[in-house]
Amino acid sequence: MKQARIIGTGSYVPEKIRTNHDIEQMTDTTAEWIVARTGIHQRRIAADSQVTSDLAANAALAALEMAGVAAQDIDQIIVATITGDYPWPATACIVQNKIGATNAYAYDVSAACSGFVYGLANAYNAIRSGAASKVLVIGAEVLSRIIDWGDRNTCILFGDGAGAVVLEAQEGDCGILSNHLHSDGSYLELLYQPGYGSCNPLSAKADPGSLPYLKMQGNEVFKVAVRSLSAVAQEALDAAGLSTSDVDLFVPHQANRRILEATAKRLGFTEEQVYINVDRFGNTSAASIPIALDEANRKGVLKDGDLVLLDAFGGGFTWGATLLRW
Ligand code: ACO
Repeated sequence: MKQARIIGTGSYVPEKIRTNHDIEQMTDTTAEWIVARTGIHQRRIAADSQVTSDLAANAALAALEMAGVAAQDIDQIIVATITGDYPWPATACIVQNKIGATNAYAYDVSAACSGFVYGLANAYNAIRSGAASKVLVIGAEVLSRIIDWGDRNTCILFGDGAGAVVLEAQEGDCGILSNHLHSDGSYLELLYQPGYGSCNPLSAKADPGSLPYLKMQGNEVFKVAVRSLSAVAQEALDAAGLSTSDVDLFVPHQANRRILEATAKRLGFTEEQVYINVDRFGNTSAASIPIALDEANRKGVLKDGDLVLLDAFGGGFTWGATLLRW
């Protein structure tokens, strides 16, 4: 059976930088507090003219170029996002049109910050079953448009960006080894966007509970995130009969430096094994892992045959890990 191997990565972040000092002017916080509690120094913010599919298309084109694959040769496009261009159609269809991937079928995955690993699992299943031979998986978000920049509990964390990978069916030992996905819908109110879905439609009389902004109980999310990220990463290692020391690069969802460090410590990773860029981009939800992966790849951190562990947690709650041989 053929492997599902990543043969190209790409990413795109908007030019505009919003620093912690900028946020000090927008809400009751300090740059020092933000750095101490999150490790985030700055995040990128999309220009007014940019939408999620623009970021996604830029990341996708970079990944296709690295892979040496023409857009027309892609069989399937999966976009992981919670900030699509429209409620529907899928942002993946808009990306398909923008990049000219005329032979692909395209759909979105909604699993919040875990969306990219959910998308990878779908790509893996399509390739292993023989249904597809080249799949583009993209994580893309313009979270700045669902954030209340006056709410200090949330606005300090998030940023905009996109990352993408091209997977190809290949013979050999390299590729995705396993995917481990979980959800628990009972935590809805710890992290969600109250408006404007069928619960609080646009037509409803506006009330503060139905505003379209992301809502979060950060300290509660923090605890479940560390527990879940650690457990699912361990589950992936156990399934392969491997241990933390076998991993060449651990790429966790870039939520908050304290979450990443607590998770890495629980699992026993050294600092050198863990990829962190949350200081420069904040939490970009579904885009965070593919942006980190692309950075690591372009810096030459990843070598053929390296063992890479991806680990995500997000709204839903959803969480998951992907273990792969680079
Ligand atoms: N600036 C200054 N003070 C603040 C701010 C702020 N931006 N936000 C909260 N505070 C205050 C609170 O009012 C509170 O004050 P009090 O002690 O007088 O009551 C105090 O700081 C501590 O508040 P906590 O909410 O307990 O602070 P905590 O250390 O938990 O940090 C944070 C908050 C950064 C949101 C943290 O809980 C967190 O990162 N949680 C994870 C959330 C997350 O990552 N969500 C993303 C989606 S899920 C994911 O991606 C994994």
